Amino acid sequence: MATDTAQATIPETVFVDEIDGCDTSGNGTEATPFKSSIKALEAKGDNIKIQLKKDAEGFKEISGAALKKAKKGLVEQQKKAKKLAEQQAKENADLKKKQEDEAKALEYAKSIKLTEDKSLPNAEKIKIRQSVASRGKRVKVSGWVHRLRVQGKDMMFIVLRDGSGYLQCVLTGKLCHSYDAVTLTNESTVSVWGVIQELPEGKTAPDQHELIADYWEIVGKAPSGDDAFNNKVTPDADPSYLLDNRHLVLRGETASAVLRARAEVIKAFRAFYEEEHFTEVTPPCMVQTQVEGGSTLFAFNYYGENAYLTQSSQLYLETCLPALGDVFCLAESYRAEKSHTRRHLSEYSHLEAEMAFIEFKDLLDHLEDMMCFVIDRVLADEETSKLVMQLNPDFKKPERPFLRMEYKDAIAYLKENDIKKEDGSYYEFGEDIPEAPERVMTDKIGRPIFLTHFPAEIKAFYMQKVPSDRRVTESVDVLMPGVGEIVGGSMRMDNRAELLEAYGTAGIDPAPYYWYTDQRKYGTTPHGGYGLGVERFLAWLLNRYTVRDCSLYPRFTGRCTP
Ligand code: 4AD
Repeated sequence: MATDTAQATIPETVFVDEIDGCDTSGNGTEATPFKSSIKALEAKGDNIKIQLKKDAEGFKEISGAALKKAKKGLVEQQKKAKKLAEQQAKENADLKKKQEDEAKALEYAKSIKLTEDKSLPNAEKIKIRQSVASRGKRVKVSGWVHRLRVQGKDMMFIVLRDGSGYLQCVLTGKLCHSYDAVTLTNESTVSVWGVIQELPEGKTAPDQHELIADYWEIVGKAPSGDDAFNNKVTPDADPSYLLDNRHLVLRGETASAVLRARAEVIKAFRAFYEEEHFTEVTPPCMVQTQVEGGSTLFAFNYYGENAYLTQSSQLYLETCLPALGDVFCLAESYRAEKSHTRRHLSEYSHLEAEMAFIEFKDLLDHLEDMMCFVIDRVLADEETSKLVMQLNPDFKKPERPFLRMEYKDAIAYLKENDIKKEDGSYYEFGEDIPEAPERVMTDKIGRPIFLTHFPAEIKAFYMQKVPSDRRVTESVDVLMPGVGEIVGGSMRMDNRAELLEAYGTAGIDPAPYYWYTDQRKYGTTPHGGYGLGVERFLAWLLNRYTVRDCSLYPRFTGRCTP
């Protein structure tokens, strides 16, 4: 018995190496020492002898002072741990209570049933765009919860969106207590009844008024948590993720403003043609002829035959001239562009027009008139002008007349301004001016440019040659600062023999083009036209970085969804 007691009180030797030891994997032996004396005391208790290594001199018995300090340190550490554990327990209890309170509140909220006060006047169902005219009357408005702000238990502000505008709705008292109210999320759909009142000075909301609700109902709830709209669509998300979620992005203020402006711009184009007595036609998208070169054709199998998605409706528009006079169309064009640039789409909205009995100058004048008409019209409309200013606050209507510059002068300009090719040489007459130098020149000049008279060999086969200099064509590209080419147009060859020769030069079999060639056989006429890329025009007008932002669901290399 006495021996046992003696053995129990023999202090264990514990090794601490302050340089190479470890408090997590060490066990106090000489081979795997602890790092700190506090850990040694904590793990092995008081009845130990500590062998301490502080430097290269090796293990030595710990000094009395150091042991005292370590013991004090352990007590402090234990106190701290206890305090932390108590704090954690309190936090857990608080959280539990909060969750229980919330669950109780939700249970209580479920018991609150909102009912419409039938003694109130009947509500007129309106769209938000009618809200200014509907002030003071009881109305019912339905839409999506664009923004939601809860202020205390008895007040909620909903900015409602219905596609026609935004309207702030104020819910108070019991209206904020129902289950739907306390669980309401952004992008849920709701109907709100109440009276629209003008806001007093100093307060702001869309249209300077708000709907004071007397009743509301949920129509469809949107998710909360990770799946919540605001967690899915964030402005700093990866562009490709945003394109995958374009269906949600479209609901945002910027994307929807672009689409709304787009609709108004298209209306303005149509208004111009209406005023000029052009007839709108709807040419086919499935074709068996090329217009702008074989390299960008999208081919497909058409009942066993080769067919393409149209690159341009120009050839069809030309055939309409004898039947309808001046014509235009707004159709999708398709280009299998390999280039991954911010101005190229695989499918784009192509506005094309064709005019008979005109000269090249008439074509240029018409183009300038058309663009200026559209800009004037868009800016004259209060709502559309607001959209343009929201998206492009610095927009200024371009000065007339637009600069007209011949291709040969552009070649000279590039030389004078030291704009070179990648290999360091200058562009020479006859060479295509690619996108990059064209953009540098356009941005430097800083105003719309009608670049004309391109050499025949760098342009499409159908372009009319200038009679006094048959090296060049009666062709025009309209270049805009920030975007580059937005329009391509020309006079068309009206001589049948010349056209047949041009097919040969371009390596095109004339047979499938008989219907196009026939225009020169059955009453030919000087004529010309152009194609305008709607997304490019919008990118310029609305100052969008890429044409992709101006398309509803953009298609480009590698993207054909959603
Ligand atoms: O210059 P392009 O190729 O001309 C034609 O297609 C003519 N047949 C049109 C005509 O005379 N009826 O294209 C005309 C315009 C360009 O200026 C550009 O704005 C747009 O169409 N465009 C594109 N837009 C977006 N993505 C693309 N890949 C585009 N390719 C051309």
